[in-house]
Amino acid sequence: MIHILLILCSLFTFFTHAAVQDFCVADLKGPESPAGYSCKPAAKVTVDDFVSTGLRAAGNTSNIIKAAVTPAFAAQFPGVNGLGISIARLDLAASGVVPMHTHPGGSELLLVTQGYIVAGFISSANAVYVKTLKKGDIMVFPQGLLHFQVNAGGVTAVAFASFSSATPGLQILDFALFANDLPSKLVEATTFLDDATVKKLKAVLGGTG
Ligand SMILES: *[C@@H]1O[C@H](CO)[C@@H](O)[C@H](O)[C@H]1NC(C)=O
Repeated sequence: MIHILLILCSLFTFFTHAAVQDFCVADLKGPESPAGYSCKPAAKVTVDDFVSTGLRAAGNTSNIIKAAVTPAFAAQFPGVNGLGISIARLDLAASGVVPMHTHPGGSELLLVTQGYIVAGFISSANAVYVKTLKKGDIMVFPQGLLHFQVNAGGVTAVAFASFSSATPGLQILDFALFANDLPSKLVEATTFLDDATVKKLKAVLGGTG
């Protein structure tokens, strides 16, 4: 009898303690570390931490790439913190482009819900994997590899991209090369592009130097 009571007691302790590890809703007021945000006290967590309405509306595509990526990563959607998962909405106006980019922190699964998108990635062996996707199609982009999406239909395209990380990150190749103050001489030396091309791209993308 005592044994059964002890087992029940330890099970109760186990389950009550296990419950506090069900989730770790991001405390956005605290610092962000490579492991994510620290946890908001469980007593302050509400259902709205686990719901995001931020992807209802199309993003604003009136920009140079005619595209908008609306993230629901841990910073916008605190409930995904610590769960190794997140999502974003992609709106591509006619001739819109998501330029070559990587997500250092996670793999991506892209689901097209409207229109046509040419999507592709390049492996570290420099093999090219490219395909035209239509509504209902999905494509996976392995973690860290350069990839892109281009509107292929002449009409607005929409897709949702889920990630194997709550903070997948985003680095856009052209912005890294031409949208900052890395001296043109170094950009030219490291890309083999000529001075006129580098200066032109820096002017278009807001770089200096
Ligand atoms: C979209 O962005 C452009 C450029 O920044 C801006 O002029 C325009 O007002 C924005 N449209 C909406 C609906 O927010």
